[in-house]
Amino acid sequence: MQNRIMITGAGSGLGRELALRWAREGSQLALADVNEAGLAETLSLVREAGGDGFTQRCDVRDYSQLTALAQACEERLGGIDVAINNAGVASGGFFNELSLEDWDWQIAINLMGVVKGCKAFLPLLQKSHGKIINIASMAALMQGPAMSNYNVAKAGVVALSESLLIELRDQQVGVHVVCPSFFQTNLLDSFRGPTPAMKQQVGKLLESSPISAADIADYVYAEVAKGSFMILPHEQGRMAWALKQKNPQLLYDEMANMAAKMRSKTQPA
Ligand SMILES: NC(=O)c1ccc[n+]([C@@H]2O[C@H](COP(=O)([O-])OP(=O)(O)OC[C@H]3O[C@@H](n4cnc5c(N)ncnc54)[C@H](O)[C@@H]3O)[C@@H](O)[C@H]2O)c1
Repeated sequence: MQNRIMITGAGSGLGRELALRWAREGSQLALADVNEAGLAETLSLVREAGGDGFTQRCDVRDYSQLTALAQACEERLGGIDVAINNAGVASGGFFNELSLEDWDWQIAINLMGVVKGCKAFLPLLQKSHGKIINIASMAALMQGPAMSNYNVAKAGVVALSESLLIELRDQQVGVHVVCPSFFQTNLLDSFRGPTPAMKQQVGKLLESSPISAADIADYVYAEVAKGSFMILPHEQGRMAWALKQKNPQLLYDEMANMAAKMRSKTQPA
């Protein structure tokens, strides 16, 4: 049984719900985040749900903090079976409005944070023949308007996951990548973008989800158990991805119309 789980971004949202899903199986959790109050709350919920573990402050931008976390997992849990790279932040804004600092910030957390998490935990996963679960987004596959830095970071997470899937198979390390559409969490708190109107638009999208973070955690748990590589928890996301693979031009046209609509809403003449 694979029951020692490390999760980044475990102090809130999807990271917390994934922790609770595995806790219900009696798992040992290594919970990491920059939000220590959130981590403490997650650990107490994990214990109520039937799991246990420990928390550690860890900023995924800092590789030395991730290797320290891996070392703590070895000392306290004797290793790790599943590493979930979930920590992430939100951003929005048309390409001409985004600064290079916005790009650096987004790439450092949402892409390089995952690269560093995979690298820091790989030695332990090679020993346990464990699994990597990377949390990307439908943004990686659909490239929605006014979020190019987020799209690129998440597309990088999908490319990294595909690369690892093929490189690590012979070492019996499993790889999974999760691409949810929008769902309600505290993600908006981390939003960085040029205009308040854009933040409002993203807020509306988060609220519009028919499924919750807990539903997504359940879906991820079940699909990982089945061995699925690319995990798309929203039905609408699965339909959109199938359509894009069949007829990409149709999707580009749709996205271009959406971009024009968004521009008129967020940047009135
Ligand atoms: N909510 C959505 O609509 C949505 C859609 C697709 C993908 N995602 C992805 O799901 C993941 C989880 O996000 P969420 O929606 O639960 O948001 P959330 O804000 O509720 O949780 C994200 C957690 O990551 C932590 N975090 C942020 N920067 C960090 C850093 N540098 N180091 C360590 N921890 C850090 C935050 O403190 C927070 O606790 C993210 O990767 C996000 O991009 C979310």
